[in-house]
Amino acid sequence: MAVSDIPQTLWWADDPATGRPAVYLVDQSRLPLAGDVLVCSAYSGVCSAISGMAVRGAPALGVAAAMAVALWAVNETDDVDGVEAFLARLDEVAAEIAATRPTAVNLAWGAERMRAVAHDNADLALPELRDLLVAEALAMADEDEARNRRIGELGAALLPEDAHVLTHCNAGSLATAYFGTALGVIFTAFEQGKIAGVWVDETRPVLQGARLTAWELRMAGVPFRLITDNAAASVMRAGWVDAVIVGADRIAANGDTANKIGTYGLAVLCKEHGIPFYVAAPTSTVDLTLASGDDIVIEERDPREVTGVTFSGVIEPRTSAETTALDALTREGPWQVPIAKGHAMEITRKGGAYQVDGWARVAPPGVEVYNPAFDVTPAALITAIVTENGVASPDFGASLETLCEGSGGIHELR
Ligand code: MRU
Repeated sequence: MAVSDIPQTLWWADDPATGRPAVYLVDQSRLPLAGDVLVCSAYSGVCSAISGMAVRGAPALGVAAAMAVALWAVNETDDVDGVEAFLARLDEVAAEIAATRPTAVNLAWGAERMRAVAHDNADLALPELRDLLVAEALAMADEDEARNRRIGELGAALLPEDAHVLTHCNAGSLATAYFGTALGVIFTAFEQGKIAGVWVDETRPVLQGARLTAWELRMAGVPFRLITDNAAASVMRAGWVDAVIVGADRIAANGDTANKIGTYGLAVLCKEHGIPFYVAAPTSTVDLTLASGDDIVIEERDPREVTGVTFSGVIEPRTSAETTALDALTREGPWQVPIAKGHAMEITRKGGAYQVDGWARVAPPGVEVYNPAFDVTPAALITAIVTENGVASPDFGASLETLCEGSGGIHELR
């Protein structure tokens, strides 16, 4: 258990089955109890992984978008006739990738940066252009890690000794190319001996805190306690929180910040209890084209995230009779277990193992649901925004603009 043990969520490698490049993604929708790795050989596979949240977290989405464009370029353009046609199709592919989820600006930023690189090098021959796009996507992954490590250092300096920190959702290594933003700050501070403990919000409805942040912190050896989202107010009131630190999906020019639903409530609680509220995010998450958070599109997701909970795991047959029965049931493909009252469960044979994936209903059938995946925290509630280029403090407008100068953010690409 050490910070160096934290997981990587996506990478580019040749697929031995096809001999062609592929994007490898750890399926975060099932972690930590099932550890599938998805192998995408076409950009549409990465798009499905993004909309299904197999890959998630703003900076990871930016890199996934870039890798999806590169994947298209090397695996799906053999029949494209000439650079002009390639660029025209690339524009469509990039737009499709950028539209898979609306709130995290990094997604559009990643796709847009690939588009810009291709158009800026339209004088190259197709093979070189393809190589250039792959190199760009890989460089973006490396840059992301470097940015996160810098954010970690700058953010850790803001924390007191023996800090008790509360975090929401997962802004860790899984949410980035590597290392994490808000968790990167916690990892860095932990290595400096400054972290006494972390409060981890479970983060309903998809439980990124309980599933992913808890998993990463355990791997890193950071002491933490998992709480329900509703417990945050009480632990603050008890005096057990010195700082709250979260990631971001989009930061408007005035500092208003969109992040996982529930973040705004935490910021309000921090104000009430006199606790600093920090946002940690790379400049690729800053969207200077939006004046305020009012213009940020908030994604609404499937009501089933709220009316029930998903679960995944691996069945370990105890007897040969159980193995025989499972084999028979899954021979023709996944076996949909018939459960009454609208629960859903299927068992899939995976090599010599059997994976179970399910959804257990908790609300009565037919209830109406409102399921925004993000909320916007007004800048006035934010103590500081930690970027790789420095720490922005209120009033954020001017300092964010300075920190983003020349950093290739979405406003410089559009
Ligand atoms: O819906 P998700 O899991 O993609 O939401 C993720 C978050 O809200 C994170 O806090 C944010 O993307 C920052 S990740 C470094």
